[in-house]
Amino acid sequence: MSDAASLKRKAAEAAAAELTDGMNIGIGTGSTAEEFVRVLAGKVKDGFTMMGVATSERTEKLCRELGVPLKTLDELPILDVTVDGADELDGDLRLVKGGGGALLREKIVAFASTRMIVIADRSKKVETLGAFPLPIEVNGFGLTSTFMAIRRAGEKLGLEGEIVLRKSGDDPYITDSGHLILDASFGRIPDPEALDAALKAIPGIVEHGLFIKLADLAILAGEDGIETIE
Ligand code: 5RP
Repeated sequence: MSDAASLKRKAAEAAAAELTDGMNIGIGTGSTAEEFVRVLAGKVKDGFTMMGVATSERTEKLCRELGVPLKTLDELPILDVTVDGADELDGDLRLVKGGGGALLREKIVAFASTRMIVIADRSKKVETLGAFPLPIEVNGFGLTSTFMAIRRAGEKLGLEGEIVLRKSGDDPYITDSGHLILDASFGRIPDPEALDAALKAIPGIVEHGLFIKLADLAILAGEDGIETIE
């Protein structure tokens, strides 16, 4: 296992230690969340009882391969906890997510959960969000209009930078819910709450990757141990 993968595994193991028998668990998307799925699968094999809700088709496939039991969010509309990764987080537990393209389902599942635990290696922690381009899930209808509205919203907040349509090879990337993603390289985002409100006012945006007031605990693995933020 590479050093990076072993840090992700350590964070995943620490999150698994927070779980209790019988929990309904939202399961995130991405390479760190996949380490969590592997840890969870080991616990299930050892007799741990739980039921999961996956935040993406990719996560669902891995859970099924490894024997992690799943239901849909409609079958389990209230979850005890969600464990998910992040592209960036700050000291106030504000996150940027969506690098893996699953931000809409991740946010719906996190919102349905009593508790959200973020797992990451410590390199994901930043002073100010924004080094990672902000993923914004948009409807394909009126894409140019939505693109321009996002640029205007950013400019009003002093945020400028390239906004690009995410691609998968030569084609636009399509999310599990059939939408497109625009990645906005705003640079530093000093006021994530203001950007959250401005983006929410644009009808063509389905959801964006700023997760504010959703995470309760971050478990960050570094070479010298685990750091937690809560
Ligand atoms: C997927 C996400 C992931 O949590 C985020 O991209 C982090 O992924 P990784 O653990 O592979 O770094 O938001 O939509």
